[in-house]
Amino acid sequence: MSKNLKQPKVTVVGAGNVGATTAQRIAEQNIANVVLVDVAAGIATGKALDLSEAAPVELHDRSIIGGADYNATKDSDVVVITAGIARKPGMSRDDLLKTNANIVGSVAKEALKYSPDATFIVVSNPLDVMTYLTKQVTGLPANRVIGMAGVLDSARMRFFIAEALNVSVQDVTAFVLGGHGDSMVPLARYSSVAGIPLTDLLPAEKIEAINKRTREGGIEIVNHLQTGSAFYAPASSSAEMVEAIVRDRKRVLPCCAYLNGEYGLKDIYVGVPVKLGAGGVEQIMEIKLTESEKAELQKSADDVKANMDKLNQLMSASV
Ligand code: LAC
Repeated sequence: MSKNLKQPKVTVVGAGNVGATTAQRIAEQNIANVVLVDVAAGIATGKALDLSEAAPVELHDRSIIGGADYNATKDSDVVVITAGIARKPGMSRDDLLKTNANIVGSVAKEALKYSPDATFIVVSNPLDVMTYLTKQVTGLPANRVIGMAGVLDSARMRFFIAEALNVSVQDVTAFVLGGHGDSMVPLARYSSVAGIPLTDLLPAEKIEAINKRTREGGIEIVNHLQTGSAFYAPASSSAEMVEAIVRDRKRVLPCCAYLNGEYGLKDIYVGVPVKLGAGGVEQIMEIKLTESEKAELQKSADDVKANMDKLNQLMSASV
């Protein structure tokens, strides 16, 4: 009987720190079976086997297989793209554009061949542009190509708020809009502790310090690690989005989504709150912004657009 029950299946492309940890979270939280794919077949195979051998202790029955062959990814419900290089100290996410565009473009096309009905979650940087590229190369409808950034950026902000107030992270919500770059927009006005507005709990300069640390959250980790970028929180954030989709949770999460007029922005991928369920992005939630918040979002969108133009130039130069 149970043989006929379809188990959710998720492909994670890239068996580096972000990919392997995402695979771990998805399996160990019992969300879906996982296929871990990487050009380095041995790394993907070895990490998948290692994760499988942890299953008897972690107590889950999810299968985790790894390798370089996309055949194994057939009929995935969700494809998470983490492939590409990560930042080193002194690099911005944008410095990764050319190298990662080639990698992300080719793996997205390959994954689509085997899973034409999948929803794609892009994690590789520069995030907003890689998500836009994935939509372009796959030709998928916008609701099925989503970038992971807002969950991570707002998780960082939630942690900093909880730390500042010495309260449980569980009761803290936070919102970060805009691109996943230096001009992202942490929104204190939409952040709260058990419903109490953050602006009633912390003075303006403390909030500004939290906003700044949130904007610089990625590089803070890069500077500590020296050899790469964050992966535990990015993996948690990716798994949360996967869970919302495979279980059709209709979670309201900040994600990098395609805008076609919402927030006054058109033909661009940028971070906004969305409803995430089996249909991918089921709704873009438009929230009211003050004039200065609108200007900040516009500035962040302009930065993403500049990168999209760079990408378009690269793509037309390589035809
Ligand atoms: C970060 C990188 C992964 O924000 O973009 O940590």
